[in-house]
Amino acid sequence: MDKLIIEGPNKLSGSVKISRAKNAYLPILAAVLLNDKPVHLKNLPELRDIRTMLTLLQNLGVRVDQKENVTTLDPSNISNHLATYELVKTMRASIFVLGPLLARIGKARVSLPGGCAIGTRPIDIHLDNLEKMGAEIVIENGYVEATKRNLKAVHLPLKFPSVGATENLMMAAVFTPGTTVIENSAREPEIVDLANFINAMGGKVVGAGTSKIEITGVNELKEVEYEAIGDRIEAATYVMAGLMTNSEITVEGIKPQHLEFVLDTLRSMGANLEDGENSIHVKPSQLKPAKIETQPYPGFPTDIQAQMMALCCTIPGHSIITEAIFENRFMHVPELSRLGAKIDLKGNSAFIEGSEQLSGAPVMCTDLRASAALVVAAVAAKGKSEIRRIYHLDRGYERLDQKLAGLGVKVQRVNENM
Ligand code: EPZ
Repeated sequence: MDKLIIEGPNKLSGSVKISRAKNAYLPILAAVLLNDKPVHLKNLPELRDIRTMLTLLQNLGVRVDQKENVTTLDPSNISNHLATYELVKTMRASIFVLGPLLARIGKARVSLPGGCAIGTRPIDIHLDNLEKMGAEIVIENGYVEATKRNLKAVHLPLKFPSVGATENLMMAAVFTPGTTVIENSAREPEIVDLANFINAMGGKVVGAGTSKIEITGVNELKEVEYEAIGDRIEAATYVMAGLMTNSEITVEGIKPQHLEFVLDTLRSMGANLEDGENSIHVKPSQLKPAKIETQPYPGFPTDIQAQMMALCCTIPGHSIITEAIFENRFMHVPELSRLGAKIDLKGNSAFIEGSEQLSGAPVMCTDLRASAALVVAAVAAKGKSEIRRIYHLDRGYERLDQKLAGLGVKVQRVNENM
């Protein structure tokens, strides 16, 4: 197992290239199952979650071939409809194969994902609405067994704009005759990207990015080449690192409008940020404390809450961060405290008393974004930090240590036993 050793405080400079978004490519990879012709995906990020999804697709019968930066997936022979517990327990996004398998072959057997580090995370919105579309769902021996009984075009008002449920239902409806309408749908840029991918294959999805998505059934899909959007969460993580170290850096490969709420919030705190067409330029800034609550898009993303908290720890004064999406997404708090942060937790709010200087310490990663918060805090902290269990980071941050080193951070990736 590897750990990161970071010596701080660091001054960052130069530019960092953001990878294609993991949370866009995971549902897009599942949507490949809809097609019976090859799909060519450009610049899939080298991440553990992406590798897990490719393994799952291969188990289902998809042939995968990698040539330079293009991954060709041939889903013409789906020979299996099982997503095993072994795979689903390592990556909840495996549940995304439910909708496309139902639509394509009329059956799917997918392990229940169970809880995870950030909360219980039920899948009732996925299952209840698939049932409304006419699927027969049985839960037995820890598996969801779904069978298509002629999926029908219906109105699906979601009780909460779940990202994953919106994506699963969109995929399930691709071949359903008539027009399926998802109301109160999630509006994240990754939803728009999935709709664009389905449309590029010849599907008919309109309204993605709004709270009403309409999917009109088509008979078949075609071969396609596609590249997903840049990773807005990775980009925001580097923006935080730049601000926390009072540095001047450029974050490239990201559409600033995908981070509009976050960038507006940072600007209202005094951040000196310039939007390019495909980049964000961060300049040294004098920041004020903040009051933030996470919300579904276009609100403040839960996936940037931990990194924002790390930033607030370095701003003198009182900040408050409320987590309103997941019930247990504050596992970075005790670890940030080891780096000298002063944070009080009350219910789902964190009360932060910021100070200018954190101090390096050994810390432990608990989940993906909590770990990202520890990394940016360690980059700004004075002294040596050892960040353990970085396999969490490898799920979602491509070449993190190399990208940080490219910005001038003193960072080493070494085996934990050294
Ligand atoms: C997606 O998860 C992302 N994952 C998460 O990214 C992200 O944190 C989350 O959306 C919110 O933005 C991927 O895109 C692969 P939800 P998802 O369904 O789809 C409740 C990261 O760090 N809910 O919108 O699972 C749920 O418990 C991560 O990259 C139900 O109650 O999120 C949660 O409280 C982790 N029933 C809330 O809705 C359901 O059937 C939001 O979940 C579904 C969800």
